[in-house]
Amino acid sequence: MPRWLSFWRVPKNKSDLKRLDELTKSLDMSKLPVHIAIIMDGNGRWATKRGLPRAMGHRSGVESLRDIVKVCSSLGIRYLTVYAFSTENWKRPTEEVNILMDLLVEYLKKELKELHQNNVRIRAIGRTDELPEKASKALVDAQNYTENNTGLTLNLALNYGGRNEITDAVKLIGNDIAAGKLSPESINEELISGYLYTAGIPDPDLLIRPSGELRISNFLLWQAAYSEFWYSPVLWPDFRRVHLLEAIIDYQSRQRRFGGLK
Ligand code: IPE
Ligand code: IPE
Ligand code: MG
Repeated sequence: MPRWLSFWRVPKNKSDLKRLDELTKSLDMSKLPVHIAIIMDGNGRWATKRGLPRAMGHRSGVESLRDIVKVCSSLGIRYLTVYAFSTENWKRPTEEVNILMDLLVEYLKKELKELHQNNVRIRAIGRTDELPEKASKALVDAQNYTENNTGLTLNLALNYGGRNEITDAVKLIGNDIAAGKLSPESINEELISGYLYTAGIPDPDLLIRPSGELRISNFLLWQAAYSEFWYSPVLWPDFRRVHLLEAIIDYQSRQRRFGGLK
C-alpha cells in the first residue's frame, strides 16, 4: 500500500476497500495532473435529501474538502483550486451567506496547523477584500502563515467570478498603459494570464464538477480553455477519495491534443 494511503479514512465495507485497491493499482503516478480544480457543488441538495437544513450540507462539504486536500497533498499534486464562493452566491439569503463565511473562518482556524505541517501553501483568489472582515483577515493570516511552504498550493476561490477576474485584469492593464508602463502592442495571452488572480499558476489540467450540473458557473473562464472536464452525479459532501481517483484515472486515459494532431 503506498504511503499516502495511510492519510485516508479507510472505508468500512469490503467492496469499497476492493474498489479503492483496484483504483490505487490503476493510478499512474508518473502522469498526475499538475493542477486540479473543483467546483464544490451539491451541499444544499445533500442536506435537503436528508431533511436537514442547508447549513448541514455546507458543514458536511467541509469534511470532503478536508479529505481531498489531504489526498492531493499526499499524492504530490502541485495545485488544487476549489470554488468555495462565487460572485453570484451573494444572491443567496444573508443567513446562508453568513454560515458559509463562518465555516470558512472555522476551517482555517481548525486546519491551519495541520496544513502547515503538511507543507501546504494557502492562497486565495477572488475579490477577497470584499468579504466580511473576519473572513478576509483569517485568509490573510493563513496566507502569511503558509507562504513559504513548498508542497501543495491550495487556492481558495472566494468571492470569485471568472468575468470579474478578467474585468479586474483589463482595468490593471489599462492603468499600466495610462501610466506609460505598458504599450498596447505588448498585450498577448501570456501577459493577460499574468494579470489574473492566478498569475504564476499553471492552467488547470483537470476540472471536476460533482452534483450532476453540466456547467462552468463562471469558474476559471480564461484558465480552463484546455482543461479536461470530469463530471459526476455525486454530491460534494459524498465526494471521497474513490471519486478523486476515478477522475484522475479517467484524466490519464485522455488524449490531450490542444488543437493539434496526435
Ligand atoms: C455548493 O453547494 C456550495 C456553494 C455554492 C457555496 P450548493 O449550496 O450550491 O448546493 P446545491 O447546488 O444547492 O445543492
Ligand atoms: C458554483 O455553484 C459555485 C460554487 C460551488 C462555489 P453554484 O451552485 O453557485 O452554481 P449554479 O448556481 O448551480 O450555477
Ligand atoms: Mg449549487
